[in-house]
Amino acid sequence: MRTAAKVRIAGTGSYVPDRILDNEYFTRIVDTSDAWIIERTGVKERRIAPESQCTSDLAAEAARRALAAAGRTPQDVELIILATSTPDRIVPPTSVYVQKKLEAWNAGAVDHIAACSGYVYALSSGWNYVANRQVRNCLVIGSELLTRIANYTDRSTCILFGDAAGALLLEAADDGSSDILYSKLAADGRGEHLIIVPAGGTALQLTDERRANHLDTIQMQGREVYKFAITKFVELIQDAVKALGVTTEAIDALIPHQVNLRIIESAADKLKIPMSKIIVNIDRYGNTSAASIPVAIDEGVRAGRIQRGHLVVAVAFGAGLTWGSVALRW
Ligand code: UT7
Repeated sequence: MRTAAKVRIAGTGSYVPDRILDNEYFTRIVDTSDAWIIERTGVKERRIAPESQCTSDLAAEAARRALAAAGRTPQDVELIILATSTPDRIVPPTSVYVQKKLEAWNAGAVDHIAACSGYVYALSSGWNYVANRQVRNCLVIGSELLTRIANYTDRSTCILFGDAAGALLLEAADDGSSDILYSKLAADGRGEHLIIVPAGGTALQLTDERRANHLDTIQMQGREVYKFAITKFVELIQDAVKALGVTTEAIDALIPHQVNLRIIESAADKLKIPMSKIIVNIDRYGNTSAASIPVAIDEGVRAGRIQRGHLVVAVAFGAGLTWGSVALRW
């Protein structure tokens, strides 16, 4: 019987479009204020991609940067897993466009759709493929163009979302102490209506009337999602530390899905984890769904806040409802 391989993060990368939408912009299109947005969400600005860019463009750029950091070429890649809820098209999977743009001809390609939890699901899958020695490496990317499905007449949602992509290259590496240690994945479909893009799939096809009624954009019951996110955030961390046989003090870097600064601060307070250990970028990018965790990880690595030997935990929660975590020894 083959023994499981240890899995190391060999390189990280991220990419955000150049154009910034600041809070001032939203005061011109909906009834809101810079003060309300900052106080209730922590978002100061977010990025928006031009029409010429699609999800696979952002993903490919983040992937190039992760490969460069790892000292690998696209030809070395054996599997690409892309987490997104804003695919280039319904068919084919967006990961094949990433493969094509990278010219990573030796890589298999698959998409994972689990909304804001998509990246922890994708990372967990990538871990299993590499640990089982089915592939020697796996590029796990989160890429989102949420500005394409935001409703710019709804002040309670449009202010939240931004565009971004992040990528990690996972490699089998049996030397050293780096490894993915734990993952939990969960869902509750009874909450499917809480964050939803009602039309555009097979349940409700898109018509001119439905488009005029914004049924092709995100609708959210913010308060309900807020309560759910805080509860799951705390539970996920408690479950992870229990499974690892440590306390929250052992966590060196915590990377939460960037949902709302108040949610992050409240969970940190309940868990008694200092904000200095938590990587936050919602102020600059808003909520970027499946991209938020890999972008925050890449920034943490580049800033020296995530280093070899660190215990790193990522937690996410979002539409579905879905939630999950991944813990690793960096
Ligand atoms: O990744 C998963 C995706 N989900 C999320 O990111 C959302 C999680 N939820 C949240 O972040 C928060 O619930 C929101 C930021 C969406 C809303 O904040 P809140 O503190 O929960 O506000 P609320 O929905 O309870 O609304 C309070 C008031 C309402 O007015 P009334 O009824 O009290 O008069 C809203 O209409 O704030 C109003 N409001 C706004 N006011 C100014 C809602 N959006 C805005 C706005 N500007 N942009």
